[in-house]
Amino acid sequence: MRRSFGLVGLFVAGCHSDHAQSALHPAGPAAWEMAWLWWLLLAVCTAVFLWVLVLTTLAVWPNPEERPPRPPLSERFILISGIYITGAILLVILVASLVVQRGLSVPDTEHTIRVIGHQWWWEVHYPDDNIVIANELHIPAGRPVLIELESADVIHSFWVPNLQGKTDMIPGLINRTWLASDREGVFRGPCAEYCGVQHALMAFEVVVRSPEDYEQWIAQRQAAAAATADVPEDDELAQRGRELYFTRGCNNCHRIAGTAAVGVRGPDLTHLANRRTLAAGVLPNTPQNLKAWIADPQGIKPGNLMPRTQLDDEELRALVAYLNQLN
Ligand code: CUA
Repeated sequence: MRRSFGLVGLFVAGCHSDHAQSALHPAGPAAWEMAWLWWLLLAVCTAVFLWVLVLTTLAVWPNPEERPPRPPLSERFILISGIYITGAILLVILVASLVVQRGLSVPDTEHTIRVIGHQWWWEVHYPDDNIVIANELHIPAGRPVLIELESADVIHSFWVPNLQGKTDMIPGLINRTWLASDREGVFRGPCAEYCGVQHALMAFEVVVRSPEDYEQWIAQRQAAAAATADVPEDDELAQRGRELYFTRGCNNCHRIAGTAAVGVRGPDLTHLANRRTLAAGVLPNTPQNLKAWIADPQGIKPGNLMPRTQLDDEELRALVAYLNQLN
């Protein structure tokens, strides 16, 4: 008994308290469809399992003399239990699956987001608004958004358990899925297809905003992108950081809109300071973490493609001061 309590404790401890990554806490129509199918299958499978246990117990009853009396209809057992009941159960599951599948088809959408999987981060484009970010998607609550999925290298899989099922991201192919949320909130998405050594550290967040807030977010990003080249004259540290950005090679891999940095190997940094996480959901985006990440990216996420840059502490502070202006 004590052992089973221990197992239950382990199971419960494994559940996130905020349910930000849980298919059993649906927050959108697609996830609701899948959640009810999941509960239906759990109920049916549990009933079948218990029924099989009862029959097995009867079959191996040690003393035939003490065996309970044969239940009625036992002569036609194979016909009833093996064909009629099994057939009915499979039919119910088939119909339920078809109903859910219908509910998952792509609805009419006003917005499109293109997501490109990389080892091991997510490139996020808003083609209609000319915004490029990384590792997070912002969507308006109550409005379905079309998501176009691509991959730059190997097969990844896009999954937001609270909102939608998995869709593979395949090199050379554009797959489509959609996201819709009934409520505002932040939901986590993991990569759901093994894609190399840092597969487990390839996550993103979906930030669901009210429609007004979403429009505001878009407008703010566009205004910020237009101003990224401006570093205040009196901010010497940030001025120095900008110089380092272009002399130490950061610009070769990371684009910043409106500047001469046009590299596309790594994430676009135009809105870096506005991002919630660093290194694809690994670290909260704080100046300290940004500094630690630039100082030793391989220590934080071994195998990733960002090399270590030879910068002393003062140079790191300057670079972070510059990057923190990129809103
Ligand atoms: Cu990308 Cu797993």
